[in-house]
Amino acid sequence: MSLSLKPRNSVRAKISAVGAYVPPRLLTNADLEKMVETNDEWIQTRTGIRERHIVEPGTATSDLAVEAARICLANRGIHPSELDAIIVATVTPDMLFPATACIVQAKLGAPNAWGFDLSAACSGYLYALQIGAKLIESGAQKKVLIIGADVMSSIVDYTDRSTCILFGDGAGATLLEPCEPGEIGLIDYVHEVDGTGAASLNMPAGGSLHPATHATIDARQHYVHQDGGSVYKVAVRKMAELTECVLKRNDITGADLDCFIPHQANRRIIEATADRLGMPLERVVINIDRYGNTTAATIPLAMDTAIKENRIKKGDLVMLASFGGGYTIGSTLLRWEF
Ligand code: UT7
Repeated sequence: MSLSLKPRNSVRAKISAVGAYVPPRLLTNADLEKMVETNDEWIQTRTGIRERHIVEPGTATSDLAVEAARICLANRGIHPSELDAIIVATVTPDMLFPATACIVQAKLGAPNAWGFDLSAACSGYLYALQIGAKLIESGAQKKVLIIGADVMSSIVDYTDRSTCILFGDGAGATLLEPCEPGEIGLIDYVHEVDGTGAASLNMPAGGSLHPATHATIDARQHYVHQDGGSVYKVAVRKMAELTECVLKRNDITGADLDCFIPHQANRRIIEATADRLGMPLERVVINIDRYGNTTAATIPLAMDTAIKENRIKKGDLVMLASFGGGYTIGSTLLRWEF
């Protein structure tokens, strides 16, 4: 195995802490059986989901994000005032503006941090991670908080059985800092967008194209719409393709990875992708059974699961992979440094 660490500025970025938070309220498959025509067996076999957490009315994405951020910073032992920047990846911001990052900055008490939101659906966390890494690598910033957070229950149609069984609410936060001598941190990434996929996964109204009207509400256009079958096929193919690309250009194979942390949209998508990459399932982190698809939060939530289950340790070679609305696709290779 030889990692082709390309020459670059001397500063490298690493993830130095993780924190995650889900709201306490559970929505189980049995609960959904009472709401739409579905059943636990169908949901578990087709998706791998048993339950998901959803917020009580009045709880917003920033609330989950702040909880995750506090845990992350406490794990690292630093105060919010030490943060230089906060990036929040989300498709369910508290409101269209100001950015949820601004609301988080105020609630967290991080007066020295600037920040912004990033919209890339389920790939939002990976895209934000790379933007944050560039801030660190440029030398401009020393502590950047990357948050993936979504309250999907605010845009899910609980009369549509094809989507309402899939999604949950949650938040994950990771701190990015410069590597110490001898550390490697983030190694490589590939991102791709295929905008022709926009029609297959979207929320049609509420933006400038279709501002909210009685008609858009009556047509149920303020909810997630998904052509699940089309998304499924592209998700497996593209997540595997981009991950293969990162593996190849670093002269490694799936067998060299200690841990694979993919976006959690469907257990079958994860297994099919791992199979294509030659990754044994015991090295793949899967927690979709407990959380469902939390969109931008799935990858940091799965990092948290990996830490709590002692499945990841300092020095491990880790691959992250995502696929989401857009379409947006991402794959990131890193060394785990704590
Ligand atoms: O994170 C963003 C990216 N999103 C994804 O990656 C999601 C990708 N797509 C998927 O995960 C899957 O396509 C789903 C889980 C959404 C659906 O699974 P599927 O195996 O593709 O099912 P399907 O949509 O082809 O539906 C099969 C059958 C249909 O009935 P007929 O037409 O065969 O009679 C559906 O009406 O299952 C029916 N069905 C349900 N039955 C019980 C659809 N939803 C349900 C349900 N309960 N909740």
